[in-house]
Amino acid sequence: MRDGKGVCGFQTATVRFGGSNGGASAFADGIRFQVPRPAWDPERDDRPRLVGQEELVVAGVAASETLDDVVPRFSLVGPAGRGKSTLALAVAAALGRPAYVVHCNGEMEVGDLTISGVVSGDRIGYVASPLVAALLRPEAVVVLENFGEMPVLVQSKLLSLLDEHRVLTSEMLGVSLRAGRGLVVVFTMLECSARLLDEQVAQRTRPWFRMGPTPHDQMMRIVEERFAESRGVLEAFRVEYEKNPLSPREAVGAMRLGIQLWKAAGRPMDEAAVARIIRRAFAGMVGKGD
Ligand SMILES: Nc1ncnc2c1ncn2[C@@H]1O[C@H](COP(=O)(O)OP(=O)(O)O)[C@@H](O)[C@H]1O
Ligand SMILES: [Mg+2]
Repeated sequence: MRDGKGVCGFQTATVRFGGSNGGASAFADGIRFQVPRPAWDPERDDRPRLVGQEELVVAGVAASETLDDVVPRFSLVGPAGRGKSTLALAVAAALGRPAYVVHCNGEMEVGDLTISGVVSGDRIGYVASPLVAALLRPEAVVVLENFGEMPVLVQSKLLSLLDEHRVLTSEMLGVSLRAGRGLVVVFTMLECSARLLDEQVAQRTRPWFRMGPTPHDQMMRIVEERFAESRGVLEAFRVEYEKNPLSPREAVGAMRLGIQLWKAAGRPMDEAAVARIIRRAFAGMVGKGD
């Protein structure tokens, strides 16, 4: 399967989708490995619910459709809970491509980006990362969530994928995967970790699109669309939100807490009582997400 340059044509590996867990398995050089499902799939899932942010979707799609020789990529940079992950899925939906998500963290090893071995019983199995899964599809978006959290050594594993080589290598299997024309890489990053990136790595995550504060009316629409059936609690939310702005994640969390408290009370409530409940829910969320 290896060609003259030592690059294995993984795209031609046998991939069987729709296994018992809904994922897939693939064969390369006679080794079978499990392939995870996409986080979002145009053939399976509804479009991600995104309120507003139209310009950023347009910018993301434009960056994804560049005709450069390197794999199209862009970064969404902003505080936690601003909607970076939601926006990344919305761009995948706008492109009509499945989205695979890698949740990055400081404990990651190179195998978590490529292929890792797992022991089950007395057998060794192999599991592909969502990045490898994306590389096996003719068209896909891979989202590297909180990319800045990943150890620098693992980040640098991506350099050869993001330069003109377009290749990711699994030392474990001794094979490389070449990105096809239909791959897009999206990074999400907190501002502070974006600034700490190694310069060579940072340069390959550009362009960076920054997510500013969510405008007031957009935030109300996010909450109203999600909790349309809870009018009374929504009204109390609106009043409290005027005084205490929250990030979208905090707002969704505060509404959820508020509705739970309201249900737990199990009795009809006047406006003042609902307002007290929402104030408690806000106090439970403030500072937890932005
Ligand atoms: N523009 C938006 N439209 C709809 N929901 C949003 C929007 N922005 C954020 N949210 C909601 O807010 C929460 C946090 O968003 P998320 O994308 O996880 O943020 P981040 O990745 O920046 O931490 C999620 O529940 C998400 O659905
Ligand atoms: Mg996120």
